[in-house]
Amino acid sequence: MKPALFVILSVLLPASALVPRQETNSTSGCVQACSRLARNSEYTTHSPGNGNFSVWDAKQQNVRSACRVEPRSTEDVSTTLSVLLDTSCHFAVKSGGHAQNPDDSVSVGGVTIDLQRMRATEVFPDQTRVKLGAGHNLHSAYEDLERYNLTTLGGRAASVGLGGYTLGGGLSHLSPVYGLAKDNVFEYEIVLPNATVATVNEHTNPDLYFALRGGMNNFGIVTHFTMRAVRQAQFYSGQKSYSADKRDIIADIAYELTTGSGKSDTSMSFYYDFGYDQETDNYTLSFTQEYSRPILNPRPFYRLNRVPSESSTLRIDWSTSFSREVDSATPPGGRNLFATVSYYPSSDLDRQIQDIMIEELQYVKKTPGFLPNLVIQPLYEASIRASKERGGSAAGLHADGPLTVVLLTTLWNNASDDDAMNNFVNNWVEKSTAATKDAGKHHPWMYINYAGKEQDPYGGYGEGNLQRLRRIQSSVDPDGVFTSKGLCRGFFKLL
Ligand SMILES: Cc1cc2nc3c(=O)[nH]c(=O)nc-3n(C[C@H](O)[C@H](O)[C@H](O)COP(=O)(O)OP(=O)(O)OC[C@H]3O[C@@H](n4cnc5c(N)ncnc54)[C@H](O)[C@@H]3O)c2cc1C
Ligand SMILES: *[C@@H]1O[C@H](CO)[C@@H](O)[C@H](O)[C@H]1NC(C)=O
Ligand SMILES: *[C@@H]1O[C@H](CO)[C@@H](O)[C@H](O)[C@H]1NC(C)=O
Ligand SMILES: *[C@@H]1O[C@H](CO)[C@@H](O)[C@H](O)[C@H]1NC(C)=O
Ligand SMILES: *[C@@H]1O[C@H](CO)[C@@H](O)[C@H](O)[C@H]1NC(C)=O
Ligand SMILES: *[C@@H]1O[C@H](CO)[C@@H](O)[C@H](O)[C@H]1NC(C)=O
Ligand SMILES: *[C@@H]1O[C@H](CO)[C@@H](O)[C@H](O)[C@H]1NC(C)=O
Repeated sequence: MKPALFVILSVLLPASALVPRQETNSTSGCVQACSRLARNSEYTTHSPGNGNFSVWDAKQQNVRSACRVEPRSTEDVSTTLSVLLDTSCHFAVKSGGHAQNPDDSVSVGGVTIDLQRMRATEVFPDQTRVKLGAGHNLHSAYEDLERYNLTTLGGRAASVGLGGYTLGGGLSHLSPVYGLAKDNVFEYEIVLPNATVATVNEHTNPDLYFALRGGMNNFGIVTHFTMRAVRQAQFYSGQKSYSADKRDIIADIAYELTTGSGKSDTSMSFYYDFGYDQETDNYTLSFTQEYSRPILNPRPFYRLNRVPSESSTLRIDWSTSFSREVDSATPPGGRNLFATVSYYPSSDLDRQIQDIMIEELQYVKKTPGFLPNLVIQPLYEASIRASKERGGSAAGLHADGPLTVVLLTTLWNNASDDDAMNNFVNNWVEKSTAATKDAGKHHPWMYINYAGKEQDPYGGYGEGNLQRLRRIQSSVDPDGVFTSKGLCRGFFKLL
């Protein structure tokens, strides 16, 4: 029996209001596409903003697609893409919906391919691998694996999609041992740009296997990831908050954990946050500890845990529970920008990039809903090593020793403040990048899942990698469907 597709039609608003850069004829192709998709399948009618549809950022929540389709199998995805090619209808692909710009994963006036029903979990008999549907979010993947006391290279927040997370890289508490999530994918099931299905691993298609590890949505629609399964039941994690006057000692401890003897214990990982609280006009500081075994107050965190804190959620618990806790701190809604810099570890630079944020926010601190936050974390040596193995990966990443990766998240309420917020973020990027260069510690790599829309993460992958990725893109997608001139234009494009 052929699995049914679910097509959710929405109200088509005037193209001028919603799709400034789309030609009206491509939208009329989408009307045709939606009616063909709906005619051939079961469907219900909903506008994309309501119904069972999780999108994190308000800029994407406000987008109206011609319709949203919820495929349930690889074959459904292939059928859908055939119809879209046939009608020249533009589209976007959504896994967890955490991207921040219209068209990244919710199509502006076209078809949104929402993978959320594709959440199969198939644990291999020897329990070293698991095949996961690309519509899982991290919580649903953890939940299925916990039944076996297994986990995988997953991130921190429950509602982040396995799709974008894994295709972009994937920083995990298991990264000190295994590297990023992308380097722990053994095989991809993918619907190629011509709607045929392929199984991609290092033997069947080494080029595409290279490209998919960091190459995001430039090569087709991934429907399943076969990933490393790791034995883990409950483990130690949680967050402590500190008054902002502790930021010097926290930066010193972070440096020591990144470069000193503590890092040799690969069960340990961490990140810390420095933010601004509009209500109190004060700064916030917190530190998240992770230890992948069920040990309370493990040795690497002894010094940190002697620093007086204001509150703590540290405990031994399941990944599902921790991921819900992280998620609750970053609820959906509001407008968000991300931006990132990478550098060789330095507590002084940690402080400098915080100071730059403090300086820059003075101009915009009254913006309604303004909430900037720096997330500072190590990119462990294992991540750099794992990326080089098996012929390297799209994401390049050559460095001697660990790096520090910083994410600036900025949240606000009103579209009328978009320009001011863009300026705030761009100024922070420019000055922070300059500071890393002045210190002789700059690294060009950018984590694509943290990069802002005006940054150039593929440039940071290195010229050789970029040329190779573009060659692979052109050969897999000669008609340019997944390029900036094609039907699937969202997120960062290679061509
Ligand atoms: C609150 C929060 C917490 C985070 N925590 C972490 C963390 O701990 N570690 C970490 O590494 N990152 C983290 N991130 C960053 C996260 O990895 C990226 O935002 C990621 O791109 C989100 O993926 P998604 O599937 O949810 O988003 P989506 O918007 O659905 O997808 C992002 C992009 O990937 C494309 N894409 C998704 N699935 C597919 C597919 N199957 N085939 C082809 N293209 C696809 C989409 O088209 C889109 O362009 C976090 C982000 C947020 C907002
Ligand atoms: C769409 O419209 C543009 C001009 O408005 C035209 O050049 C193009 O050929 C049209 N495309 C199709 C597929 O009709
Ligand atoms: C919403 O979608 C999720 C994921 O597909 C599913 O598990 C859940 O049952 C749905 N909820 C409703 C109310 O339909
Ligand atoms: C999971 O591990 C716990 C102990 O850590 C054990 O009690 C439980 O039986 C295990 N469950 C499975 C399914 O292996
Ligand atoms: C701001 O934080 C400092 C400590 O970092 C504290 O002494 C001060 O009282 C706080 N101010 C407000 C308004 O909360
Ligand atoms: C948007 O800005 C206006 C004017 O600054 C303010 O009154 C309003 O509350 C803001 N809206 C939201 C949702 O914050
Ligand atoms: C689809 O694209 C793949 C990859 O380029 C190619 O190998 C295959 O022959 C194409 N299939 C068809 C039917 O065109």
